Amino acid sequence: MSTVPNSAEHVPSADVDRASGAVVSVRGLEQRFKMRSGTVHAVSQVSFDIARRETLGLVGESGCGKSTTLKAMMRLSRPESGEVVVNGVDWLALSDRELRHCRPQMQMIFQDPIASLNPRRSVGDLVLEPLAIQGRGSRVEHRERSEQALTAVGLDPGDVWHRKPHEFSGGQCQRISIARALVGNPDVLLCDEVVSALDVSVQAQILNLLEDLRSSRNLTIAFVSHDLSVVHHVADRIAVMYLGRIVEIAPSGELYWRPAHPYTAALLAAIPEIDPSRRSRKAVVVRGEPPSPLDPPTGCRFHPRCPRAVDVCSTEVPVLQEAADGHFVACFRPLDDGWQSVDIST
Ligand SMILES: Nc1ncnc2c1ncn2[C@@H]1O[C@H](COP(=O)(O)OP(=O)(O)OP(=O)(O)O)[C@@H](O)[C@H]1O
Ligand SMILES: [Mg+2]
Repeated sequence: MSTVPNSAEHVPSADVDRASGAVVSVRGLEQRFKMRSGTVHAVSQVSFDIARRETLGLVGESGCGKSTTLKAMMRLSRPESGEVVVNGVDWLALSDRELRHCRPQMQMIFQDPIASLNPRRSVGDLVLEPLAIQGRGSRVEHRERSEQALTAVGLDPGDVWHRKPHEFSGGQCQRISIARALVGNPDVLLCDEVVSALDVSVQAQILNLLEDLRSSRNLTIAFVSHDLSVVHHVADRIAVMYLGRIVEIAPSGELYWRPAHPYTAALLAAIPEIDPSRRSRKAVVVRGEPPSPLDPPTGCRFHPRCPRAVDVCSTEVPVLQEAADGHFVACFRPLDDGWQSVDIST
């Protein structure tokens, strides 16, 4: 079993072997928010790599730090420490001017497609805007590229160009948001709950669109969702977050069928099961509510809710260790046979 250094000082990637081929490398990302009542530890020592054309899913309960991780990567907030290396350049070390220059390489798409589009602007203006801000190229080139981006997301530029966002459905608005993200020809897309606000059939269309764009444009994607079944469907690998930390990271099928962290097993057990062979397995019962990130538990942050916790879990931070090929887990008592040991109450 190989060990990935972790814990308080520095948590390098759980995927160090692939670091050389990574388009995105996040290292030791730390984001805290100072509040009157204390400090929110929203993202603590988060590290991962994403390879070209790979989709990394990021899952976990509400408030575990998924959106904060993406926003910190985009430098929409000011992380305390860490590195966000995109195509070999650490975005956290750039001046604002340098960052503006690099921004087209990594774009973010948000959950609420209608709220994320300025209602007063026409679709054409909305899609053109990132190019206009960038200031490179002529107006004619901007128009051409915007029309190409709209076509790429399945919209007819001639039909939609002069219309306003409120004239479109949620699914169409999400297509417009994706066109806006694509127009600068990014290498990386950060998708934050991009299908959560859409109905199931439209969700499938948007997920298929992202998959097509990934292969046609060699995109590297971070896909955040609280819905593990959606993430399992779209991601090559999945990272599971709990209270600001990554507790498990593994190839998608491996994580889905052989979870090693009790928290991952609990998340999986919460998915309504259509497979009868899995329905008969015991549900994982996790006690209580997630603790406050204002005062996260010592040691493993999951230990107060974990039925498998032992003394060491409350005193030491577990390191990410390789439980199987490419499958890393931060746990002192991991499940060693996945779903077979789904009863974690003993
Ligand atoms: N700007 C901020 N100021 C203070 N606290 C914040 C801020 N942004 C996020 N937080 C806190 O950081 C923690 C992580 O929030 P985040 O939005 O990243 O969670 P999430 O995993 O995306 O949840 P959800 O699934 O509900 O979107 C939460 O406790 C949240 O209240
Ligand atoms: Mg969120």
